[in-house]
Amino acid sequence: MRKSVTVQDVINKKGKEKITMVTSYDFTMTRIIDTTDIDIILVGDSAGVVMAGGKNTLSITMDQMVYHTMCVTNAEPSALVVGDMPFMSYQVSTEQAVRNAGRFLQEGHAQAVKLEGGKRVIEQVKAIIASDIPVMGHLGLTPQSIHAFGGYKVQGRGKDAATALLEDALRLQDAGIFSLVLECVPADVGKIVTEKLDIPTIGIGAGPFCDGQVLVLQDLLGMFKEFKPKFVKQYAELFGVIKEALETYCKEVREGTFPDLSHSFEE
Ligand code: KIV
Repeated sequence: MRKSVTVQDVINKKGKEKITMVTSYDFTMTRIIDTTDIDIILVGDSAGVVMAGGKNTLSITMDQMVYHTMCVTNAEPSALVVGDMPFMSYQVSTEQAVRNAGRFLQEGHAQAVKLEGGKRVIEQVKAIIASDIPVMGHLGLTPQSIHAFGGYKVQGRGKDAATALLEDALRLQDAGIFSLVLECVPADVGKIVTEKLDIPTIGIGAGPFCDGQVLVLQDLLGMFKEFKPKFVKQYAELFGVIKEALETYCKEVREGTFPDLSHSFEE
């Protein structure tokens, strides 16, 4: 069994080794993930889409996120587990943010939390870190802001937007975050932010220059067919594999070849 990945291990990888992160939401997939040397498992609020079938990430609740986090940590992965703070679980006040971040560690047994936004959530970030809860930041196309953005659009395009994004990144770093997700920003913006920060950046649609990469597990494995963003690379086609297995099962049950005696009990 490999040594558990810590927040400090993630920080230490900057400039030395690329960081790998995937999402997971349940025990079975986490057990498979943890047979590999993935560094970080993010229990993403993308669960609201790929697990619950929501149109976006806005509907998933704290209770549901804590449940998914517990399902993941029940697999006792050696990867670092980060719980994703859902919409309206930290925006209201610093007190609300600290209490909900605490639930991810206390009830979900995660080691860190992630939340979206820059300077407008800086007080929440500082308060959570002051409670000894490590925080991962998230800038660029932050899906909880989809209605404010007017859709899923690349962020940080143009000098002013890129400068504002870099300022947010530096403020989050000053506040004490241990790493930063950059989602859907031009590759050169990903590169500049990565070069300017001392902490690692983890990209998703942010080009090849980030310190690490993250993908939603169901996208990476080719299981989720509702839509496929440009940045997704499918490393398998599990939709087809699962469909074929289920079709074979139905056929064998219907023709009476399953179960046979080798799958039956003797007296
Ligand atoms: O919820 C999620 O899966 C995420 C990643 C896409 C970074 O936030």
